[in-house]
Amino acid sequence: MVSQQTIDIVKSTAPYLKKHGSQITTRMYEIMFHKHPELREQFNMSDQANGSQPARLATAVYGYATQIDNLPALKSMVEKIAHRHVQTHVLPEQYAIVGESLLHAMKDVLGEAATEEVIAAWTEAYQALSVIFIEKEHDIYSHPK
Ligand code: HEM
Repeated sequence: MVSQQTIDIVKSTAPYLKKHGSQITTRMYEIMFHKHPELREQFNMSDQANGSQPARLATAVYGYATQIDNLPALKSMVEKIAHRHVQTHVLPEQYAIVGESLLHAMKDVLGEAATEEVIAAWTEAYQALSVIFIEKEHDIYSHPK
């Protein structure tokens, strides 16, 4: 579980994520594909170009920011994403790459609003969300339906 302080800070960033979400995730993919070009093969690059995948990721990040203290509300979203991740062969060790790129993008887009506290809270929160996905995906990989 994440700390109450992290929950409060993450929730306080929700309005920024609502306003700048796609800008942040577009920047995130730019950083990630630049640093790890081999990951392009896992993604549908036309959904990058037309902005639909950055928009889907932004919706998920915003959903998490608003429901971080009410995880059951995210269950169906997590399941849908986890199934897509398994279809595209996402691996546990890739979560650190996405996390680093996402935090970097938050700093770039939010500027002064991405204070040290905000970054620390999102680092903890992202880590917790990664564990949720990694466990769910482990289940699906082990028991494919
Ligand atoms: C907590 C972290 C993550 C979140 C919130 C997230 C969120 C999402 C969402 C919302 C989708 C779209 C699902 C759909 O409706 O079809 C998606 C798809 C995908 N994600 Fe993630 N993801 C995360 C981590 C990762 C990681 C670590 C990778 C590894 C590279 C990854 C690779 C992919 C791929 C390849 C797709 C399919 C995209 C496509 O069809 O082009 N994701 N993810």
